[in-house]
Amino acid sequence: SIIVMSSYRSYDYQSKLYDRYVSEDGKEKADTYSGRPGHSEHQTGLAIDIYNGEKEYTKFEETEEFNWMKEHAHEYGFILRFPKNKEKETGYQYESWHYRYVGTKVANYIHKNKISLEEYIAKNINKK
Ligand code: DAL
Ligand code: ZN
Repeated sequence: SIIVMSSYRSYDYQSKLYDRYVSEDGKEKADTYSGRPGHSEHQTGLAIDIYNGEKEYTKFEETEEFNWMKEHAHEYGFILRFPKNKEKETGYQYESWHYRYVGTKVANYIHKNKISLEEYIAKNINKK
């Protein structure tokens, strides 16, 4: 059971979300888990936050749906966008619930090499 709870967000919506997080947690903390307006990939429509319909999304890692995503998301062109222990590369804390569509070719490569999208881009894009 995989349910999308957040997908495309407008600039205005991301603004409201970000402002709420800043008022709750302060800017420094909010910047570790929320894109600033104009900088969230949710605004591209390529990112989804999912949960299994039962457990809170922050506990998605503890579900069998998470294990399924871990093994199969790349087959459908999706990657776990903010992996554990890649906070330095991605700039964001680990999010077990946030996936991004990159297409099967890139997703397969990222999955096989256990890297972040940032590392993929540094290695494979803009190289002459
Ligand atoms: N939670 C991710 C980083 C976003 O707001 O785009
Ligand atoms: Zn997300």
